[in-house]
Amino acid sequence: MQTSAHEIADRIYRISTFVPEAAPGGFTFNQFLIDADAPLLFHTGPRRMFPLVSQTIARIVPLERLRWIAFGHLESDECGAMNEFLAAAPQAEVAHGALGCMVSLDDLCDRPPRKLNDGEIIELGGKRVRHIDTPHVPHNWEARLLFEETTKTLFCGDLFTHLGNGPALTDSDIVGPALAAEEIFHATVLSPAVATTIRRLAKLEPETLALMHGSSTQTRSVECLASLADAFDLKSYQR
Ligand SMILES: [Fe+2]
Ligand SMILES: [Fe+2]
Repeated sequence: MQTSAHEIADRIYRISTFVPEAAPGGFTFNQFLIDADAPLLFHTGPRRMFPLVSQTIARIVPLERLRWIAFGHLESDECGAMNEFLAAAPQAEVAHGALGCMVSLDDLCDRPPRKLNDGEIIELGGKRVRHIDTPHVPHNWEARLLFEETTKTLFCGDLFTHLGNGPALTDSDIVGPALAAEEIFHATVLSPAVATTIRRLAKLEPETLALMHGSSTQTRSVECLASLADAFDLKSYQR
């Protein structure tokens, strides 16, 4: 396995590891580093990927400068290495929605996490992230996403998950591949809330969609969210 880093928006880096055997056509595990005065990492990667991911991050910022560790929800690819990062970065705190902290992170984190309310902003110095609660979207009670306001980057977590090892940024359609992957994984909670929540994200008018699995995009980002919401609306009602 090899891990690469690409700047996908101003001082926002996609750290990507392709795992060929993870799914038909292979699968990428991506983390995002916001290089600000107080650097933030969104997704830690699984615990066993910590050496690869941390070495790649350290080429951009020294690990001990990391200030915030954030992720979408509690699964190993999202946060398996959070305690390894807390150990490597003495000033770092995990930041998550209040519910996720109460249910899991107050216990699981080696240092107490920072609890965020829906819409709360963390100033990073040169960058600014807004925490957005997205319960059960795409899955998990404590699910949340982040929006970086200066670059209008939406960190989509598992939304738009697709297979393969595409480029860091693509101009190609991401909705079709995401719906094809959904047919394989059935990872999204198909309730009426999913479309409502995705439409709420579209109102942020993101310019960059930063995807955890697959290529990120800066092409018609708002329309991509609208199309995904429409497709999930249809699927929810078909169930
Ligand atoms: Fe997930
Ligand atoms: Fe994931």
